[in-house]
Amino acid sequence: MPKEQAKRAKLVIGNWKMHGRLAENAVLMQAVATGATTLQKGVRAAVCVPAPYLAQAQALLGGSVVAWGVQDVSAHTQGAYTGEVAAGMAADFDATFAIVGHSERRAYHGEHSDLVAVKAQRALEAGLTPIVCVGETLEQRENGLTEQVVGTQLEAVLLVLSEAQAAKIVVAYEPVWAIGTGKSATTAQAQQVHAFLRAQLAGKSAAVADVPVLYGGSVKPENAEELFAQQDIDGGLIGGASLKSNDFLAICQAAQNVSV
Ligand code: PGA
Repeated sequence: MPKEQAKRAKLVIGNWKMHGRLAENAVLMQAVATGATTLQKGVRAAVCVPAPYLAQAQALLGGSVVAWGVQDVSAHTQGAYTGEVAAGMAADFDATFAIVGHSERRAYHGEHSDLVAVKAQRALEAGLTPIVCVGETLEQRENGLTEQVVGTQLEAVLLVLSEAQAAKIVVAYEPVWAIGTGKSATTAQAQQVHAFLRAQLAGKSAAVADVPVLYGGSVKPENAEELFAQQDIDGGLIGGASLKSNDFLAICQAAQNVSV
């Protein structure tokens, strides 16, 4: 295993999206917390839940090896912003992560990269780790624009962060055409974009070069290990498969298999 890969722990993060209710969440959280006890040091697991269930995550995952987070944060710290959830509110419930710039927010809520950059700042200020999502549409990929698109999305965030802040983020490469479609990027396609993002991060500083770069988009137990074995793929952001404890735990195990 190449040296620089060995020193980055694998990170597997579930993105529950707008799924779940109290009763089914409890079953899922307990199963994940119990199953994750066998994970070793090289793997960290977390779930990003809908904001109303942060207290439940804190109650049921607190003390386990599974961390939790939110799927978005406001670009504001507080004030007259009806319906928004501030990063500091998520931090009140001991959240570790905040997804920012998920393609569903970009597509359905018109979030552009400058706003995503501010959200990443707000998350960091509140002590949360932002998971900055980037990814191209199928049309952009077919037009050879993948690197330009993801590069521009990441650059907007790197521009506003100090080196010390940038060294604390997580990046998730999520090709839009692979999300929820069952059609994952091939390992070669994913690794190529990850290497490109890694080089861009390295351009900021050596410490930033080492931030985790996760792959997301139809990760499942069957393809996780091959993806995670790639040099620049440090784990996954898992949508659909994170709603089934066995699948999510199998994906965590796949990360374990390639991390030791
Ligand atoms: P998926 O979603 O695993 O269901 O493709 C990933 C994501 O949107 O984060």
